[in-house]
Amino acid sequence: MTEQHVHSNNTTTTLMQRFAVPFEFPVSFTENLFDPENTTVIETLCRKEADKKHKVIIFLDDGLANSRPELVDKIKAYAAHHSEHMDLVADPFLVPGGEKIKTDLHFIEQMQKTLYDYHIDRHSFAIAIGGGAVLDAAGLVAATAHRGIRHIRIPTTVLSQNDSGVGVKNGTNLYGTKNYVGTFTPPFAVLNDIAFIMNLGVRDKIAGMAEAVKVALIRDADFFKWLEQNSDDLATFKKTAMAYMIQRCAELHMKQIGQGGDPFEMGSARPLDYGHWSAHKLESMTHYHLRHGEAVAIGIALDARYSVLKGLLKPGEEDRICFLLEHLGFKLWHPALENRNIENQLEVIIGLREFREHLGGELTITLLADIGVGVEVHEMDDDLVVQSINWLKLRQEN
Ligand SMILES: NC(=O)c1ccc[n+]([C@@H]2O[C@H](COP(=O)([O-])OP(=O)(O)OC[C@H]3O[C@@H](n4cnc5c(N)ncnc54)[C@H](O)[C@@H]3O)[C@@H](O)[C@H]2O)c1
Ligand SMILES: [Zn+2]
Repeated sequence: MTEQHVHSNNTTTTLMQRFAVPFEFPVSFTENLFDPENTTVIETLCRKEADKKHKVIIFLDDGLANSRPELVDKIKAYAAHHSEHMDLVADPFLVPGGEKIKTDLHFIEQMQKTLYDYHIDRHSFAIAIGGGAVLDAAGLVAATAHRGIRHIRIPTTVLSQNDSGVGVKNGTNLYGTKNYVGTFTPPFAVLNDIAFIMNLGVRDKIAGMAEAVKVALIRDADFFKWLEQNSDDLATFKKTAMAYMIQRCAELHMKQIGQGGDPFEMGSARPLDYGHWSAHKLESMTHYHLRHGEAVAIGIALDARYSVLKGLLKPGEEDRICFLLEHLGFKLWHPALENRNIENQLEVIIGLREFREHLGGELTITLLADIGVGVEVHEMDDDLVVQSINWLKLRQEN
């Protein structure tokens, strides 16, 4: 791997530098992370250096802190109990939860300053506890302070536990563009605590399930059947069902990232983004009033119908997919689907162009060849997209 390849022509000698850096990080599933007898956090801190008191700083989502007023004290008590290995340099820092933290660079700079003030070095830990937005922002801060300090993610929403938290990306919004600034930086570890999920509001509990349906549809027919069979328990947020759904979904995302051949998205394919081209557009068209997962559910339904119209997916399967999504609590229609711009073009279709620009390279859209089988296409037929939208509209009217 390390040999240099030499290439010469008449004018130039080129040495080809080449090396590979292996990445490895644990993703743990547990309950009540900060109960003193739960040693997951301590084992994680000590993974590389066992006999050390590890310096730790914590950024905590204020939305989560408000719904769990005892959490800050619990974390402090945990650190005190495990003071042999954990040096919590200050009380957890509350940071704005939700998209707010990603809309103003001031919050990013403030977190950088906190790391600087507390002399957090490349062997210390920055832990982020919160939803996907806080993890994205804190991840960017951790990836860039000293060119990268150890970062542990503790995702606290369904979406961040089953999807974004196990990924390798971070970012913040800039120039009105979502995730314009960010890096691909694998975390040191990801710790998922099902107890946090039980605190979430109903809308967020439902929204995150869209990613499970998505990844089942493109990768795992058995998981799709499991979702169907357990949809009553999922719709009523039974803990055992929610925990399995999250873990299996996270596992499938990890597999795609780890074994899919393109963890840092150098190519233009993005198989995990099934149903996402219209979802991204719907999110921005509705000024983020639609949650990501709510928009993804509509995108899944739209592309399922499109897959049928295109002759890829067996007719009837799109109904089966819509039925599951609706049973889980999703609405598969939003009036923004019919928005037109001044040139009378459907705005959502402009999302296709934006999606291509976002990926770079050629348009690559994942559709369905079967339940559990994604297939990539490089063009989309506008007429069939319109027919799919009309089909969704008719469905909700009936
Ligand atoms: N990096 C990636 O690969 C990736 C992938 C998908 C999405 N994302 C990003 O994730 C973000 C969305 O994340 P999200 O869906 O987790 O929502 P979120 O981070 O926007 O959080 C939603 C709300 O829930 C609150 N909250 C968080 N945990 C809670 C809990 N346990 N109890 C009560 N309230 C809680 C937050 O304060 C916030 O108000 C977006 O910014 C999106 O761009 C990133
Ligand atoms: Zn998504």
